[in-house]
Amino acid sequence: MGLLDGKRGIVFGIANDRSYAWFITKELIAHGAECAFTHLPDPKGKMERRCRSAVEELGISDPWLMPCDVSKDEDLDAVFDKLKADFGKIDFVIHAVAFADREFLKLGNFHKTTREAWAQAMDISAYSLLAMGQRAKDIMPDGGSILAMSYYGGEKVVPGYNIMGIAKAALEHTAKYLAFDLGEGENKIRVNTISGGPLRTLAASAVGGISDMFEHQERKAAMKRNITGEEVGGTAVYLVSDLSTGVTGENIHVDAGFSIVGL
Ligand SMILES: NC(=O)c1ccc[n+]([C@@H]2O[C@H](COP(=O)([O-])OP(=O)(O)OC[C@H]3O[C@@H](n4cnc5c(N)ncnc54)[C@H](O)[C@@H]3O)[C@@H](O)[C@H]2O)c1
Repeated sequence: MGLLDGKRGIVFGIANDRSYAWFITKELIAHGAECAFTHLPDPKGKMERRCRSAVEELGISDPWLMPCDVSKDEDLDAVFDKLKADFGKIDFVIHAVAFADREFLKLGNFHKTTREAWAQAMDISAYSLLAMGQRAKDIMPDGGSILAMSYYGGEKVVPGYNIMGIAKAALEHTAKYLAFDLGEGENKIRVNTISGGPLRTLAASAVGGISDMFEHQERKAAMKRNITGEEVGGTAVYLVSDLSTGVTGENIHVDAGFSIVGL
């Protein structure tokens, strides 16, 4: 018996087999979950091909896969309408998407962030969680778990993380307010965030000073090492499973004890 047998949900954010969403999926399916996926649309279909081949690596040969730009209401509507039509209900949503203009992720460039870049980062990286929650609640009649990926730069200044840090602070608090609204009555939906340590992904490569972050993590973290994607995936399994039915509005650090050390 798997911890997640009989649970079905959707994963947003697999760009390739290094994505946090890929590691989360790997662990969810290892424990019995069934996953649907979305990819960022692009005119040449590159993102779809990369997402599909990453998912196939996990042994899923004919995935439920739809394009979705999370900054577009019509794309989100289409995804949740199709989920409802195909499955009736779901049990979990994994939010592992983020974006900010890399110009403003350069060291020392936070103060140059434009209104447009700020709004775009907040929309794609934080508002999108609320937008998913609005739609997911209608197809989670038995309750369920919504999970988003955050980072320590939303709590403290991490040089180079810049506007993404502001978006992560907003994301973590969006999760708490959403947890409050969706937690009671018929919904019983839990909403949590995982604050993961640095991982070498496409999104991470856009952050100025990312190499220093890996070294700094090794020096400072309680466990004196970086983390693996599977370790975040394991915590995702816990948060999606019925082992965590009393846990909502939490931000769980999976960072080898980086965030507990002051100096
Ligand atoms: N890599 C790290 O060090 C790290 C650490 C902590 C948290 N995170 C968070 O993990 C999550 C996943 O990022 P990742 O590091 O796996 O990188 P990634 O590049 O593999 O994944 C980011 C995903 O966001 C998607 N995306 C961007 N804009 C989008 C849009 N408008 N609509 C739909 N999808 C869009 C991309 O297509 C991609 O699939 C992000 O929220 C990121 O901030 C990453």
